[in-house]
Amino acid sequence: MSEAERNERRRRAGERVATFVEDGMVVGLGTGRTADHATRALAARVAAGLRIVGVPTSHRTALLASSLGITVVSPEEHPRLDIAIDGADEVDPQLRLIKGLGGALLREKIVAAASGRFVVVVDDGKLVSRLGETAPVPVEVLPFGCTLAAECLRALGAAVVLREAAAGPFVTDNAHYLLDCRFGPLADPEQLESDLRSIPGVLGTGLFLGMTDAVIVGTAEGIEERSASPSLPAGATPR
Ligand code: 5RP
Repeated sequence: MSEAERNERRRRAGERVATFVEDGMVVGLGTGRTADHATRALAARVAAGLRIVGVPTSHRTALLASSLGITVVSPEEHPRLDIAIDGADEVDPQLRLIKGLGGALLREKIVAAASGRFVVVVDDGKLVSRLGETAPVPVEVLPFGCTLAAECLRALGAAVVLREAAAGPFVTDNAHYLLDCRFGPLADPEQLESDLRSIPGVLGTGLFLGMTDAVIVGTAEGIEERSASPSLPAGATPR
């Protein structure tokens, strides 16, 4: 598939999810190419009169959103959000995710957890049968002691690479490092998440488990929508 075709699929997903947003909402704005399409589509609705505020998940997204006329607020001003929209690097059939190849996983997880609804936008190349098939699990760590954290991750079976930028280690918006951990296809993502979080210095992981309410998938034909509770209409609460 060409990059142009893949980007078209991202755009379809991003434009669809923007229609989920209603007047007055506090909206989590994700980071990445697909999330950018959603932010642009939301900005077009704002220009047409929609009143929302956005909580960006990175400095990059904050710049994009504010340059397009979306009012940007912090989670301190708005600790509860109505909806968060974000991309992903892998999506499995239970709508579990690997995120963070764009480097914003920690803020993305905070924003998703604070939101009434977490909707993920991807192209169909991100769908996998098991997490870890194609993407590493990014782990955000404190630079202090990061070599020891990497050793602990290797002891869990990962091939670990410190993410690099042009002039040294990649530094997140939170002034941390990222260790990209290849475990191969994951047999038990929940157990792995628990193991990762027990390592001193680990501040966040790219495993997003049991958080996703819906996934919008851009495909060759158009879009597909997958819901965590397919028998329930959007917004319904199970009894
Ligand atoms: C950033 C992320 C992104 O959502 C993820 O990397 C997908 O990005 P893209 O839509 O550009 O493929 O998790 O931290």
